[in-house]
Amino acid sequence: MIAKHIVQKIRDVVGTDNALDSELDLFGYSYDSSFVPLVPLNKPDLVVRPFTTQEVSRVMAIAFENDIPVTPRGAASGRTGGSVPLKGGISLSLDRMTKLVELDEPNMMATAEAGMRTVDLYNACAAKGLFYPPDPASWKFSTIGGNVAENSGGMRAVKYGVTKNYVMGLEVVLADGAVMQTGGKMIKNVTGYDLTSLFVGSEGTLGVITRALMRLIAMPKMRNSLQVMFPGLDEGCRMIHDMLQAGIVPAASEILDKTCLTVATEKRKMKIPPGAAAAVIIEIDGDDEAALESQSNRIKAVAASCGAILFRAASSRQEADELWAIRRGISSAIATLAPDHFSEDISVPRDQFPEVVKLIQKIGEKYGLLITVYGHAGDGNLHPSILCDMSLPGEKEKVHQAIEDIFAASLSVGGTLSGEHGIGITKRPYFAHAVGDVAVRTMKAVKAALDPKGLLNPGKIW
Ligand code: LAC
Ligand code: ZN
Repeated sequence: MIAKHIVQKIRDVVGTDNALDSELDLFGYSYDSSFVPLVPLNKPDLVVRPFTTQEVSRVMAIAFENDIPVTPRGAASGRTGGSVPLKGGISLSLDRMTKLVELDEPNMMATAEAGMRTVDLYNACAAKGLFYPPDPASWKFSTIGGNVAENSGGMRAVKYGVTKNYVMGLEVVLADGAVMQTGGKMIKNVTGYDLTSLFVGSEGTLGVITRALMRLIAMPKMRNSLQVMFPGLDEGCRMIHDMLQAGIVPAASEILDKTCLTVATEKRKMKIPPGAAAAVIIEIDGDDEAALESQSNRIKAVAASCGAILFRAASSRQEADELWAIRRGISSAIATLAPDHFSEDISVPRDQFPEVVKLIQKIGEKYGLLITVYGHAGDGNLHPSILCDMSLPGEKEKVHQAIEDIFAASLSVGGTLSGEHGIGITKRPYFAHAVGDVAVRTMKAVKAALDPKGLLNPGKIW
């Protein structure tokens, strides 16, 4: 509970309508897009929706003075519980701060407020021939602030990298309300510690990101999408592996297993040929037809050598968009197949991708669990998802064992727990094992320096 007079102070800053405390509102801000159980409920005591950095700063100062926990929140599209207010207090929603502050064409950089949707930044840049590549599956609703806080990845990471590769500078409100600017438009900058990078992927535990300065690149003049079907997952994995080994790096290169294909067929009318049990979806881009054609031909040859049963280039922009809409919707679609769903996010050196997929298939067999596999095969980031029913006797133990085995499999080939979803709540138990005690100690020291009262997104990461 936050004392009435403090709630009033906050209302004086953001306006009564932007400090919500009805039961319904508090419930609405108690969960995100992860599968953190709703029981017990993690309701905040107050939802605060500031409109400016100055308001964020004043709210943070009040919270600091009164020892109130603050959990920052973008669109709550996170997959690990990052924006779930575990210790009550304030859910600080940046959803009203949606402005594109500046599109600096000569320097090819954009400054966005934290609550701007990823796709809106993409579109605003595209209108000027500029390209903001990071495209998490949730880009139609995820926000730039959330993307930076989680260091989101996406489909185009294989060629263009992830959010951190584009962040040039940040505006951050610290735990006590102080406003800090980091980085800038300089390509080169070694003036002190790299504080920008420190906040990227910090999951709202070190400060509240209010603005981000993002680097842009030139928009490729053309792109197309390819669909390749295989009789099995192994062949699909091998194709992606061989393609990359041959030096062909497409803009995106995704894999879907049979379960994903089945659900995609049912829900989105995707047509699959008989005998197809895996699909590889690829985006290629370039500056002219010839560049696209040459990539497409080379990929087609690799696909044939790996036993593809269908190779199809999208015949229209609409067909390509539909293909990617299917891919972006996979995670939600498969969640409907079973009462419970645990979606993982392991990331491995990309040459180890076929190997880790085999290990995951074995884990499924070992525990008699349906583990569906899809993800960003080209960059080594995979989402093995366990579809299960936790109410069945013994299921819980099996699922937890299987999750441990999946993480162990990833570590065994030189990989890690999370490629793009962060640690949040759901991966906490495995965190120390993945990074080691010295790294945990170092991170805790950073946290203590920036958040001495432990008020920022408490209960996350470890
Ligand atoms: C995806 C999300 C779950 O790739 O990261 O669909
Ligand atoms: Zn993903």
